[in-house]
Amino acid sequence: MVELHDQTFRDAHQSVLATRLRTEDMVPICSKMDEVGFHSLEVWGGATFDVAIRYLNEDPWERLSTLKQNMPDTPLQMLERAMNIVAYRSYPDDIVKKFIYYAKKNGCDNFRIFDALNDLRNMEVPIKTVKDVGGHAQGSLCYTISPIHTVERYVEDFKKLEKMGCDSLCIKDMAGMISPTRAYDIIKGCKDAGIKIPIDLHSHNTSGMTGLSYMRACDAGVDILDTSISSLNGSTGQPPTESMVAALQGTEFDTGYDMEILMEIREYFQKIWYKYSHLHRQAAMMVDPSVTVHQIPGGMLSNLVFQLEQQGAGDKYDEVLKETPKVRKDFGYPPLVTPSSQLVGVQAVMNVLFGRYKKITNDTKEYFRGMYGKPPGEISEEMYVKILGPNWRDEVIDCRPSDLLEPQYHKRKDELESMGLARKPEDVLTYAIYPEVGLKFLRGEAKAEFTSDQLPLKKPEEVKEVVRRPEYPVAGKVRVDGTEYDVNMKDGDTIVVNGKEYRVSVLFPDSGTVEPKAPGKNPVAGGVKSEVHSPMLGTILRIPVTVGQRVRSGDTIAVLEAMKMENDITSPGDGIISSIRVKEGQDVEEGDVIALLE
Ligand code: CO
Repeated sequence: MVELHDQTFRDAHQSVLATRLRTEDMVPICSKMDEVGFHSLEVWGGATFDVAIRYLNEDPWERLSTLKQNMPDTPLQMLERAMNIVAYRSYPDDIVKKFIYYAKKNGCDNFRIFDALNDLRNMEVPIKTVKDVGGHAQGSLCYTISPIHTVERYVEDFKKLEKMGCDSLCIKDMAGMISPTRAYDIIKGCKDAGIKIPIDLHSHNTSGMTGLSYMRACDAGVDILDTSISSLNGSTGQPPTESMVAALQGTEFDTGYDMEILMEIREYFQKIWYKYSHLHRQAAMMVDPSVTVHQIPGGMLSNLVFQLEQQGAGDKYDEVLKETPKVRKDFGYPPLVTPSSQLVGVQAVMNVLFGRYKKITNDTKEYFRGMYGKPPGEISEEMYVKILGPNWRDEVIDCRPSDLLEPQYHKRKDELESMGLARKPEDVLTYAIYPEVGLKFLRGEAKAEFTSDQLPLKKPEEVKEVVRRPEYPVAGKVRVDGTEYDVNMKDGDTIVVNGKEYRVSVLFPDSGTVEPKAPGKNPVAGGVKSEVHSPMLGTILRIPVTVGQRVRSGDTIAVLEAMKMENDITSPGDGIISSIRVKEGQDVEEGDVIALLE
């Protein structure tokens, strides 16, 4: 017999409805879901925590306890990002322990624990804590393809996780690219190696071959398969629960679940699917076998396209696709999952735009220092020198990143209490993990994008694709704030409208209309020796210098956030800062003047 771990309340809507499913739309179907007899239901963790406080004005802790009250008979599971918990950076041990304690207390029974780099050291504290609070610890490894991610390596690491006290194991194929053969080999390898605890396979429909992989996983002796109800399924979601139940009926793997109940659930979620229609994205509905060629997860691909277009370099897409695997190799083959997918993707974009490792993000430096954990493969000395300089050995840590962090819980608790916002102990954790968004939520300042009774919302007009053809000459109209201007120009030209400069992006080259990309370069005062420009579009995070300050070549003038990564904007030479043209928090374009140097 094979059991199913249903993802409808977590990964399904995270994959196809931007994680926006509200608790009030889950509750009415809970008793039916509880009746099926699933092995477990994933309902919490991953992006659901962040999205609830950021976009839904919902307390994630209340969601968890509500769901447990309504589904008392099925074990509920959360996806726990090891020392990153439900966010993207490492937290100290005390925060991780408290979080797991309160998650258990609010109704979470099972914890799927994974680390983006498969660094088992980052999984020790969460696994032990789950055991201490009486929960079920599932040790999970991110599935990826690389010369070092062999079947043997996965089997060895799963053996270690069993020894570390895990109650079950999971192959986490977040990109949906596991092939039938690999699924079979890893699971069979684990069974042959004498692993006794149950093995779960988590995958997505993305490649189109996942159903076959699930079947081969069954042949190899898999114990649990991850699925979600067909109505919230798409191509980026999980294989459909009902289809899997039907496929295995009458075989030795039969789940024994009642198809009648599943059909009722399916009908309910069909209504939900249309109710949330404003969130439908065509790309999430289409199978994409290209993942089997370039091995870049779908979510990361769409990010790359978005980032390149933001930087006005949409035509560099193919180059970035070729550069990404090279960067990944230089980085020691991290699995491409948040946050490593972002690190690798942004560095690949930078390498294509500015030359290989000519610009290095601060996050790349942190990664090489070991602050995300130990990279899975070897990194060459040449790469370390390139990223961290000749004294790189002094900067690289060999301990667990959280070993360097001070306990934080009591400090955060005192802070929140002094603000009068600690209504329950869980609030301290919301604040500790998301100091800005969490605080806004606890203050009652968060706004729900929509509530259940406002749905369905009218679908926003399709965003028209910006087509860039660098040398395409355009004679046509420019629209600025509703007014049209006749122009004759080509893509990338600068125009001045109402005293402001705009850079032109060709929208529809065939029809000859253009759309300004506002605003362009700031006018520059005369009599200046040197300008410090922003190398790309982004937001100024910090300005560590002041007017009148003497700086040397290479000193940081400003820290720019671009593509969610921090970048130092450095001084091109020695001099004195005579003027600072931007403020912290200000958005800048490529070429904007940051400061003047004399
Ligand atoms: Co997933």
